[in-house]
Amino acid sequence: MKVVLSYSGGLDTTVCIPLLKEKYGFNEVITVTVDIGQPESDVKQAEERGKKYADKHYTIDAREDFVLELFKLIKANGEYEGYVLGTALARPLIAEKVVEVAKKENADAIAHGCTGKGNDQLRFENVFRQYGFKVIAPVRDLNLTREWEIEYAKQHGIDVPATKEKPYSIDENLWSRSIEGGKLEDPSFTPPEDIYEWTASPEKAPDEPELIKIEFEKGVPVALNDKRMGGFELINKLNEIGGRHGVGRTDMIEDRVLGLKARENYEHPAATILITAHRDLEKLVLSRRELKFKKFVEEEWAELVYYGLTNDPLYDDLNAFIDKTQERVTGWVKMRLFKGSIIPVARHSEFALYSEELVSFDTGAINQRLAEGFAAFHGLQGRLFRRLFQ
Ligand code: ARG
Repeated sequence: MKVVLSYSGGLDTTVCIPLLKEKYGFNEVITVTVDIGQPESDVKQAEERGKKYADKHYTIDAREDFVLELFKLIKANGEYEGYVLGTALARPLIAEKVVEVAKKENADAIAHGCTGKGNDQLRFENVFRQYGFKVIAPVRDLNLTREWEIEYAKQHGIDVPATKEKPYSIDENLWSRSIEGGKLEDPSFTPPEDIYEWTASPEKAPDEPELIKIEFEKGVPVALNDKRMGGFELINKLNEIGGRHGVGRTDMIEDRVLGLKARENYEHPAATILITAHRDLEKLVLSRRELKFKKFVEEEWAELVYYGLTNDPLYDDLNAFIDKTQERVTGWVKMRLFKGSIIPVARHSEFALYSEELVSFDTGAINQRLAEGFAAFHGLQGRLFRRLFQ
């Protein structure tokens, strides 16, 4: 009996290896680590530990696939309750890669290390089940606690990463870093500065603002400061620049799929920069009605992603609508980064629905008197209701 385990190299997924043998009767455990732009040292550590503790290990590079998913997210300005969807978007992709290995290895089941409290179990399993795999979730199934896991790991000769130094549960990928658990579970607790690794605190950010320029083609970012580059490089660079200026921190209460409210902390400099720029450019090129309607579409899109329901046909339908709107989202935006803030200061597009000649205070291009008839009817029903005529 063979099982493929989605593997991060952390404590939860590592104790799953002997558990799958002892408690579930598998004789072969294959670990799969998917690289979606988390720190290279994490990928390397997972690979070392997978090779050491499992029967076979795979490391799969899905960074470019993840960038393609992120392009969809940028076009959709993807945010759920103010959370830039990082982990949520990555999970189905990781699951797809794990399924590929499971098929190749002819596995009898797929296992993951998620708890029964979060969203990730839903996002993973929806994909695993779609391909007909039996799912095993030892941490959820056995109701494991961290203390028990540490004890069990020691008994099985598994070295435990120093837990005192890492009191939080961290999830990282190219797009965002999530920090949860430990003392942060108390929403009235103000987090210490050291939970943040990607972003400087705004007070310590440079005293000089920095101006950056992002160029988009059909809603996709293609250049930074007039230098064309691929998505992976661009996002990495923006994480560095934004992080330096303290841009892209979130501390929020989030409604999980199960209904639990959770306190969440995130860092996402590139995401904040790109979504701010993208929204700004859309305001220049999309019509008032398109902007209004797209907001509903974005809301639905984000909810599907958050809930791990991207296999629903609605997801494709929404992306088709979004792609249609993005045909004209080509142009550039300049933004000023300063001590945690980001402000668009200039923008341009050949598709702008903007006429300087018409709007300007300084030209006579519009016969203003024509607006008088408009004004006479505007608000008519309200005036009737108030019984004030003029
Ligand atoms: N709350 C976020 C979500 O559900 C992130 C979860 C990240 N997981 C973690 N172990 N830090 O998408």
